[in-house]
Amino acid sequence: SILIVDFGSQVTQLIARRVREAGVYSEIAPFQSAEAAFDRMQPKGIILSGGPASVTAENSPRVPQRFFEAGIPILGICYGQQVMSAQLGGNVIVSGDGGEFGSAFIEVKSACALFDGLWAEGERHQVWMSHGDKVDAIPPGFTPVATSTGAPYAIVADETRRFYGVQFHPEVVHTPDGGKLIANFARHVCGLSGDWTMAEFRDTKIAEIRAQVGTGRVICGLSGGVDSAVAAVLIHEAIGEQLTCVYVDHGLMRAGESEQVVSLFRGAYNIPLIHVNVEELFLGGLAGITDPELKRKFIGKTFIDVFDAEAKKLGGAEFLAQGTLYPDVIESVSFTGGPSVTIKSHHNVGGLPERMNMKLVEPLRELFKDEVRALGRELGLPEIFVGRHPFPGPGLAIRIPGEVTKERCDILRKADAIYLEEIRAAGLYDTIWQAFAVLLPVRSVGVMGDGRTYDNVLALRAVTSTDGMTAQAFQFPGDFLPRVATRIINEVKGINRVTYDYTSKPPGTIEWE
Ligand code: XMP
Repeated sequence: SILIVDFGSQVTQLIARRVREAGVYSEIAPFQSAEAAFDRMQPKGIILSGGPASVTAENSPRVPQRFFEAGIPILGICYGQQVMSAQLGGNVIVSGDGGEFGSAFIEVKSACALFDGLWAEGERHQVWMSHGDKVDAIPPGFTPVATSTGAPYAIVADETRRFYGVQFHPEVVHTPDGGKLIANFARHVCGLSGDWTMAEFRDTKIAEIRAQVGTGRVICGLSGGVDSAVAAVLIHEAIGEQLTCVYVDHGLMRAGESEQVVSLFRGAYNIPLIHVNVEELFLGGLAGITDPELKRKFIGKTFIDVFDAEAKKLGGAEFLAQGTLYPDVIESVSFTGGPSVTIKSHHNVGGLPERMNMKLVEPLRELFKDEVRALGRELGLPEIFVGRHPFPGPGLAIRIPGEVTKERCDILRKADAIYLEEIRAAGLYDTIWQAFAVLLPVRSVGVMGDGRTYDNVLALRAVTSTDGMTAQAFQFPGDFLPRVATRIINEVKGINRVTYDYTSKPPGTIEWE
């Protein structure tokens, strides 16, 4: 295994992801608890992450010194390179020119085990830089093996000790060969076999869940989406009947979705499921609310109230399971006081655990969406479920700008179903990250037959994305949108005009509210 020491970079999880892609098991430990992780894991290699601190600042984080005496390979990335240099007798300075950010080219000066079989002497390669400080003198034993204009020590190596330092970020996609470089480190340098798979991830997580939960009871809130479903099925595999799932059905789901969830859990998996139908409660409370944030707050709070009441009826539970993914949480290491980790929660997960005084079970916390899908397939979830587009916790309510009513939900559900049906029929569903309809609070004049109509406008949206953080409008083939528009206007009473949303993210967001 590989131990990744986290110095608080926003992209540390990407390092772990690249190591997983190389078929090698890794764990991330905040620098404060890295020694304990090291003793437990007995890793075959260490990767030091980037981070926001400056090595030159007093009390900035350090690597436990004994890691350098363990006789195993170490790869330092950005801050990791700098801190390693400083601790081994080199020197780090704050760049006089303010640093280097964005794409850069490095030139390979000599061969190095880190890029054996990948890069050769004299070649130039694109990398992604993001640093304010830089190494100014390398430690004894090291040689520069690649340079860039901004970073004379773009890659440094001590081949005897198998220590490598890179100033750029190999873990991000903007370093095209970065994944291969990390794979080379894990397999070629550390000698790991690269046969780790999602099946092993599943087994590891099952063991972890059992160790965490013991004989305790776990409640899992299902949202109807992939993440909570995969989390629930995985946890059920680990602890069986100690898990109860609660599906708070707020009536803001897409057509047919609730039925699918219920039949999958009760039927295919035989997982205890409580289906609470509270559509009226939600629609009643949403009446008159038009502000997007107030909608979100009302839905979040009501969801918690209902969930809490159901949990009490069950006699309580010590653990709350959630399908939180890595992009849902930004985890940052605290530099000021001890080993605490500060977590900022995504809008659909906040509040519940504190209010209910339960411990969290979040087996998907380190995964990205496509990895969760792979795990779902591993667990035998049907493709229609696993491949499903993401759907926001507040459901259709944030796809109905203005007031949400039952009538408007029904109109939107019908139109959305036609849109998705056509997307599936055209074989485009899997190439699109998310596609949905938005029912606008705007009416327009039209003509149908010989009559004048004055009805709702519907916006269609479809985006491509790799992680939901950025997105581009999907370009449909020429005749697709007119066909869908015609079908919707003909088949859905209440809509007489259809538009397409071309906004990318940023500056837009994927959802309209
Ligand atoms: P935005 O609209 O912020 O959305 O670009 C990014 C991704 O997050 C989803 N989303 C949510 N998911 N609870 C969720 O579980 C929410 O409150 C929520 N709001 C947005 C959105 O569908 C997109 O995939």
